[in-house]
Amino acid sequence: MPVISVPQDFNEDDLYIDLESIFGRSLFLKCEGFNFAGSIKLKAAIEMVETAERDGVLTPDSILVESSSGNLGVALSMIAASKGYRFLCVTDSRCNLTTRLMMEALGSQVHVIAGQEANGSFLGARIDYLRTLCASDSRYVWLSQYTNPGNWKAHYRRTAPEIAHRFPELDTLFVGAGTTGTLMGCARFFREWHRPVRIIAVDSVGSVSFGGEAGRRMIPGLGMSIRPPLLDESFVDEVIRVEERDTIRACHRLARRGFLFGGSTGTVVSGAMGWLAEHGGDGRTAVAIAPDLGERYLDTVYQTNWLHGLYGDDVLGPEPANTESWVLPTSPPPAPSPGGRRPHLRAGERAGRRRHRRKSGGEP
Ligand SMILES: Cc1ncc(COP(=O)(O)O)c(C=O)c1O
Repeated sequence: MPVISVPQDFNEDDLYIDLESIFGRSLFLKCEGFNFAGSIKLKAAIEMVETAERDGVLTPDSILVESSSGNLGVALSMIAASKGYRFLCVTDSRCNLTTRLMMEALGSQVHVIAGQEANGSFLGARIDYLRTLCASDSRYVWLSQYTNPGNWKAHYRRTAPEIAHRFPELDTLFVGAGTTGTLMGCARFFREWHRPVRIIAVDSVGSVSFGGEAGRRMIPGLGMSIRPPLLDESFVDEVIRVEERDTIRACHRLARRGFLFGGSTGTVVSGAMGWLAEHGGDGRTAVAIAPDLGERYLDTVYQTNWLHGLYGDDVLGPEPANTESWVLPTSPPPAPSPGGRRPHLRAGERAGRRRHRRKSGGEP
């Protein structure tokens, strides 16, 4: 058991779940949510801050600024508090309330951008705001997770070697793509490794990261409304795109077995299981990365009205006819909401549906 004096010194880097008993196919899920920032973004945040310190860019009177939909903002808030920097997070209305309150509790300032672009994204508005801020005062230091090489180097130095150490026979690695920091760091590491590893990027439908049509995306973490500047596709063997309905189903299937994960984990697991079903998993050592845990998504991914409003009442499949079917040994269906499914929406819920339909395009 480690003894630490600063929060960023703790990270569980060797925890995997074998998903075979839940999904019927062997896939080792690397859990990255067990640290004081609650996500894989802690590694990128440490790397980017410490590089800026070493380069003399970040000094005691600097004010850190960054665009984040949540997890990087929490990680930077934690590190800033620990090291005594001021931090301003620029986010948008899709950042969930818990995440925003966490950043504020850690002493950060949060600026919520209102101006949505025609494609539903807030990214341009967030970046414009940061540019103006940095031009106004030289104390502002913008780490820029979308372009900072420290973002992928963190995973080249830490995440990928951790996987290689635990699975020397690794064949296939599934990595979700947001800024593509995790993907590029792992892909670059395994390109130089002693055996070939198939690198499979998992993206959400509606993201334009690897080309394709932009569309509504409600689950934060994965997908971009622009091509990620860090992405070099020559390191990626395949790309899988997952519908958000499938993401939701995978999250709930995991939760019904006691594993509460964030939305992007559902995307990666759903995509990986589909790929393994098609290509055969026998004898193959496959690993996927789970970027965070589920508490931050209780009022979205795990909230019935939110789900039904966005994805339809059947998103979680048919409800069990009786309580006995809840305890089937494999993939139990979801328990009904108290009072059963509501056939009609109330006025407020209808308005909620309309609101959700207008929003789209979450960025990391
Ligand atoms: C929950 C979650 N999943 C996945 C990602 C994607 O990671 P990356 O930006 O390294 O591609 C992020 C990034 O913010 C995230 O917050």
